[in-house]
Amino acid sequence: MEIFLDTAHIPYIREGVETGVVEGVTTNPTLLAKEGNNPLDQLKTIAEIVPGDVSAEVVAQNYEGMLEEARFLASLAPNIVVKIPMTRDGLKAIRTLSQEGIRVNTTLIFTPLQALLAAKAGAYIVSPFVGRLDDITHNGMRLIRQIIEIFSNYEFATKVLVASIRHPRHVLKSALYGADIVTLPYAVFEKLLKHPLTDIGLERFLKDWEKAGFEPLLKK
Ligand code: G3P
Repeated sequence: MEIFLDTAHIPYIREGVETGVVEGVTTNPTLLAKEGNNPLDQLKTIAEIVPGDVSAEVVAQNYEGMLEEARFLASLAPNIVVKIPMTRDGLKAIRTLSQEGIRVNTTLIFTPLQALLAAKAGAYIVSPFVGRLDDITHNGMRLIRQIIEIFSNYEFATKVLVASIRHPRHVLKSALYGADIVTLPYAVFEKLLKHPLTDIGLERFLKDWEKAGFEPLLKK
């Protein structure tokens, strides 16, 4: 399972990539707006830092406009994947762009059948939003399980990217269900590597070492 960061904030992206386990980034208009910089410059910088895919979303709503923006976004860097919303025009755009060899991430997926349509249209990635479903008392992770089952039934190559993640349990279930990618807010990424018993254990090891009168392993 690949780990992406769901942010357009450069310091978080640098930190994540430096750990060696963050391979990609997803952005959306909200996340780019939060940074306040020119969105195209911001995307180019992100694409230079990140080793893998960087999702960049169109804002046009009609088919022609989506195609124009998608082609432009895809030309910014070879690792840009274009995010297209799950709408009627979006579906048409996915088909055309995929035939042109432009990789599409279909965003705002809330049902397994929306995911099926996106896959049939040729999407490279589908992004189901689990947190937003949980927010309205639906079951976000059930959606992930169903999409994975459908894609496996028909051997779709479309990747399942779990989006709108709120906490590590979403990440754990994504891994257990076999999702291809998770995209994490930076705060969730940090939570993945922490455990209080790790901190307590480390403190105890170092105290025992000092109590025995041992020096640091390598004296300076
Ligand atoms: O980037 C799409 C998705 O991850 C947004 O998440 O937290 O705004 O529901 P959220």
